[in-house]
Amino acid sequence: MNDLSRYIKLLERLPRGRVVAVDLSRNMLDEACAHLAPRFGRRAEYVHADLASLPFDEVFDGIFSTAAFHWVPDHPSLFRSMYRSLKPGGWLVAQCGGGPNIARLLRRASVLMATEPYASHFPGWRDPRELGISPYAPS
Ligand SMILES: C[S@@+](CC[C@H](N)C(=O)[O-])C[C@H]1O[C@@H](n2cnc3c(N)ncnc32)[C@H](O)[C@@H]1O
Repeated sequence: MNDLSRYIKLLERLPRGRVVAVDLSRNMLDEACAHLAPRFGRRAEYVHADLASLPFDEVFDGIFSTAAFHWVPDHPSLFRSMYRSLKPGGWLVAQCGGGPNIARLLRRASVLMATEPYASHFPGWRDPRELGISPYAPS
């Protein structure tokens, strides 16, 4: 819940709707609540949950996510979980890291991680992100 401006716009566009904010980090949810609750009250709820095993069945008209999917290692479970949470015909709009969008940075980091004085700090290090190649990514 870093940049709340997108979620504020979402709530503004849904004057009669409700938004459920989900994150695995309680700190992120507390931060979101501190900023959103004074203005939106009970129209926003905060749920501590793993996106890959959401505790919802056919509840939502839509799911909106930014900068989160690439932190979830099990994408089949992630998409099953979201599909289960959506009402039939529900929509999904998401943005996440993927494909080659930070390829130059990753190449530079991997060179540095293999070079002293950094190499000794990264034995067996594995990238925790799932940067899948999207069929829609620009070439
Ligand atoms: C880069 S932040 C983006 C936060 C927010 N969506 C935004 O756009 O400002 C990534 C967030 O994903 C959350 N996250 C990572 N893995 C998760 C998972 N399996 N389930 C739920 N949230 C997760 C992290 O706790 C973190 O708050």
